Amino acid sequence: MKLFNIILWSTSFSLAYAITPTPRYNGGCAAINQRIYCYGGTANRQPTSDHYSLDLTKDFSIANSIESWNNVVPVGDFSVEPNSLFSIVPLNDSYLIHGGLGYGSSTRYLKNTTVVYNASNNSWSAIQTQNQTSLMPSREETCTLDLSNRIWAWGGISDNTTAININKTTYHDEFQVLDLNTLTWSFPDNATEMSSRQTNIPNPRLEHTATLSNSGQSIYFIGGLQVDDSGTSLSGAPMNTVLEYNITSGEWTTHTSPANTTIPASRRLHSATLVPNSDLIFVYGGSVTDAADAVADYTYLLNTTSFIWTPINIANANLGTKSRFGHSAVLHNNISLFIIFGADDLGNLRNDFSVIDIAHWQWVSEFKANGDYANTTAATPSTSTNLNASASIAKSRSSSKQSSSSLNNDYTFISLKYTKTAYLIIGAIVLFTFL
Ligand SMILES: *[C@@H]1O[C@H](CO)[C@@H](O)[C@H](O)[C@H]1NC(C)=O
Ligand SMILES: *[C@@H]1O[C@H](CO)[C@@H](O)[C@H](O)[C@H]1NC(C)=O
Ligand SMILES: *[C@@H]1O[C@H](CO)[C@@H](O)[C@H](O)[C@H]1NC(C)=O
Ligand SMILES: *[C@@H]1O[C@H](CO)[C@@H](O)[C@H](O)[C@H]1NC(C)=O
Ligand SMILES: *[C@@H]1O[C@H](CO)[C@@H](O)[C@H](O)[C@H]1NC(C)=O
Ligand SMILES: *[C@@H]1O[C@H](CO)[C@@H](O)[C@H](O)[C@H]1NC(C)=O
Ligand SMILES: *[C@@H]1O[C@H](CO)[C@@H](O)[C@H](O)[C@H]1NC(C)=O
Ligand SMILES: *[C@@H]1O[C@H](CO)[C@@H](O)[C@H](O)[C@H]1NC(C)=O
Ligand SMILES: *[C@@H]1O[C@H](CO)[C@@H](O)[C@H](O)[C@H]1NC(C)=O
Ligand SMILES: *[C@@H]1O[C@H](CO)[C@@H](O)[C@H](O)[C@H]1NC(C)=O
Ligand SMILES: *[C@@H]1O[C@H](CO)[C@@H](O)[C@H](O)[C@H]1NC(C)=O
Ligand SMILES: *[C@@H]1O[C@H](CO)[C@@H](O)[C@H](O)[C@H]1NC(C)=O
Repeated sequence: MKLFNIILWSTSFSLAYAITPTPRYNGGCAAINQRIYCYGGTANRQPTSDHYSLDLTKDFSIANSIESWNNVVPVGDFSVEPNSLFSIVPLNDSYLIHGGLGYGSSTRYLKNTTVVYNASNNSWSAIQTQNQTSLMPSREETCTLDLSNRIWAWGGISDNTTAININKTTYHDEFQVLDLNTLTWSFPDNATEMSSRQTNIPNPRLEHTATLSNSGQSIYFIGGLQVDDSGTSLSGAPMNTVLEYNITSGEWTTHTSPANTTIPASRRLHSATLVPNSDLIFVYGGSVTDAADAVADYTYLLNTTSFIWTPINIANANLGTKSRFGHSAVLHNNISLFIIFGADDLGNLRNDFSVIDIAHWQWVSEFKANGDYANTTAATPSTSTNLNASASIAKSRSSSKQSSSSLNNDYTFISLKYTKTAYLIIGAIVLFTFL
């Protein structure tokens, strides 16, 4: 009875209660309404519908932060489904979840392919769109919001675990675009029809990242697994090949890093975050592409003018996470970059997070709600790229550009008809030790 009262009380006042998250990866997190929300992911080898939030209005110590999460108890009777391998898009006071592995079953499918959690009224709703039937749901794709409130879904895979009536594995090299103004899906590049195919459409990728450029005109696609020309086998996309899609012209460009510059190891399940008001993208973590192991080289800046990769040293390493994959990277107020959950360099799933102050490129021991971090970096040599990045942030802290973080996912307990490479990946997952 007492328990019932507590539940009733917390539901009716739509309050949340404190909770320690279960270690997980492949979920999604977004910073909205001065909170970070994390939904779903795989924990204990099961897809979950867990929904946590973290208050960002107050300073807190990162070391004790594992107990700072609240369980979100939404209003209404909307049934939230378990999911992983989905895309997450922050929308002012809401966030949208699209696609994903769902129940991880070829007999039970997600009922709602696209759902929105609105933090202002603490409720979930399903997006019902025009042209919904032409949409082919997928997972391990990316969804990128542009400046006209359109969401550009690209890449990923659809098969008989993704939706009913899909009996053939499909990798997507075409865009599926959701216009939030009209709630309509469209398929603007016609790439699904072989006859009208543009010649320079890149091969599909999955477990890559997608980041809107500072101008809002282009989307950069980085890393992941790339489908070969035969359309059947997957391999790590080279990191010195970055794809750009120009939203205005509808043209693809494949950029290659200059010769004799650093090429990061291929990776998937990494994160990519635009450094606000700059031409830099910060890439964190990822897994090697032929196993489930966090990459050794896990912090880079990509200059999207020169396409030069620069390894970046984050100061105060003892305060930070090490390499992770299937984590979330969430930028708050253009300064505090949260690296949340994921699988670590020892193969353990995690329920903790760390914070990078990207003005000084340092891990911090305390989250500052006002973003006013002191430079605690011991004097060490720093590259000129890093200094430029710091300067551009310091100047532009107060602007409120949409952060772009993208998360991709990994396979879990289900057996997917993949290539030999992918089977290796699945096999390695089984070796995980779970916390
Ligand atoms: C799906 O969306 C509908 C509303 O469109 C909602 O009633 C339902 O609870 C959601 N979840 C499931 C599993 O159907
Ligand atoms: C978010 O807010 C901006 C600025 O008020 C507005 O232009 C945009 O349409 C909003 N986006 C959504 C998805 O509501
Ligand atoms: C969220 O809900 C609030 C209150 O109902 C509403 O004003 C707001 O427009 C909603 N946000 C979105 C993105 O629909
Ligand atoms: C919350 O806002 C959403 C729009 O984002 C709307 O569809 C939904 O009905 C609202 N829910 C409640 C309980 O007001
Ligand atoms: C799903 O696809 C796999 C591999 O193609 C196949 O073995 C399995 O029988 C299919 N399941 C259903 C329910 O169609
Ligand atoms: C795929 O499944 C649908 C619906 O079950 C069926 O109508 C269609 O013939 C199947 N296609 C192939 C190629 O097996
Ligand atoms: C809806 O889909 C149909 C068939 O793919 C297409 O011809 C039509 O242009 C689409 N409508 C919009 C608004 O994109
Ligand atoms: C897509 O196809 C339609 C009909 O064939 C055509 O009118 C439209 O221009 C095409 N769009 C693009 C972006 O090629
Ligand atoms: C994208 O295409 C438009 C129209 O062709 C062009 O004006 C613009 O410069 C292009 N943007 C980039 C970043 O290349
Ligand atoms: C790259 O480095 C190699 C070995 O140092 C050198 O022979 C080659 O000329 C360099 N290429 C360019 C384009 O600088
Ligand atoms: C932080 O301090 C270190 C050591 O004094 C210095 O090298 C670095 O330039 C400073 N960073 C910024 C962004 O001021
Ligand atoms: C990126 O590279 C371009 C061309 O080399 C350079 O002009 C620009 O300053 C670089 N950006 C940063 C933030 O260092």
